Amino acid sequence: TPTREFITGLPKAELHLHLEGTLEPDLKLRLADRNGIDIGQSTVEDVRATYAFDSLASFLAVYYPAMEVLQTADDFYELADAYLARAAADGVKHVEMFFDPQAHTSRGVPFETVVTGYHRAAAEAPERHGVDAHLILCFLRDMSAESAAETLEASVPFRDRILGVGLDSDERGNPPEKFATVFARARDLGYRLTMHCDIDQAGSIDNIRTVLEQVVVDRVDHGTNVVEDPALVEVLLERGLGLTCCPISNSFVSDDMKATEIVGLLRSGVRVTVNSDDPAYFGGYVADNYLALAEAAGLTCEEVVRLARNSFAASWLGVAQRDAYL
Ligand code: HPA
Ligand code: ZN
Repeated sequence: TPTREFITGLPKAELHLHLEGTLEPDLKLRLADRNGIDIGQSTVEDVRATYAFDSLASFLAVYYPAMEVLQTADDFYELADAYLARAAADGVKHVEMFFDPQAHTSRGVPFETVVTGYHRAAAEAPERHGVDAHLILCFLRDMSAESAAETLEASVPFRDRILGVGLDSDERGNPPEKFATVFARARDLGYRLTMHCDIDQAGSIDNIRTVLEQVVVDRVDHGTNVVEDPALVEVLLERGLGLTCCPISNSFVSDDMKATEIVGLLRSGVRVTVNSDDPAYFGGYVADNYLALAEAAGLTCEEVVRLARNSFAASWLGVAQRDAYL
């Protein structure tokens, strides 16, 4: 069985990671202090006590208010740089990181401030941490399509600093087709496309069908419910499309980590990857997620190597760079 040392030693890519989900309690306290914001918590234990939930909705209800401590470009830089240092320690060589601009612009922080701070951390990451880092702009699906469209247009001057776009937040009542026009425009702008199809959502399988057949994407975030429809699993296999699974996150928003489903897909040849989602909240970085899945499902070392190789194969690295890892 694979040990933590074996897992950490494998070069890997992380493809499902929300930068705002890497806000550790100690950094939250430091930023609150620096920005003169009273968050009503004064110790790491106080903050950690608020980082508790049992569903996607209850997680999001903690996640968005915590972001008020992020105000300046330096704040966003420090958040991303701390994550990149932590990822490097887990053997991550390449990362495609989500960020939620509307969670900041909606409270008065300019788009440019957010991108400037995050991008500086990404640009310095090869030298500082030995990690190749890129940004994926996520639209909040519980906001309007008009707001997403405005956010997309705001990104155009920063087009060369953003690799792709995604869709996150509360999926209930906010299906992919709500954003079909925005995603078509994003594709025209040259962005790569991905969307969350969360695991605890009734009707998730319909949203997976939509992102495979209608609003076609380059990858699917979570997407584990695809096991409910073998015909859609076939589509994933034919296209070699990646799924970015997050075992420890799953165990918070549903009854378990979905190890059986994830490993079943892996063993049937789907390009399954393992990722940490919101590690400061769910208490596990990427190596913890590999280890948890390996222990729950009895993965062999060869299967863990396959997961790590899948992470590069499903990445948006150029073919030449990707092949150097495969
Ligand atoms: N799903 C939806 N929204 C999110 C997530 C997620 O996994 N993480 C952060 N925002
Ligand atoms: Zn996510």
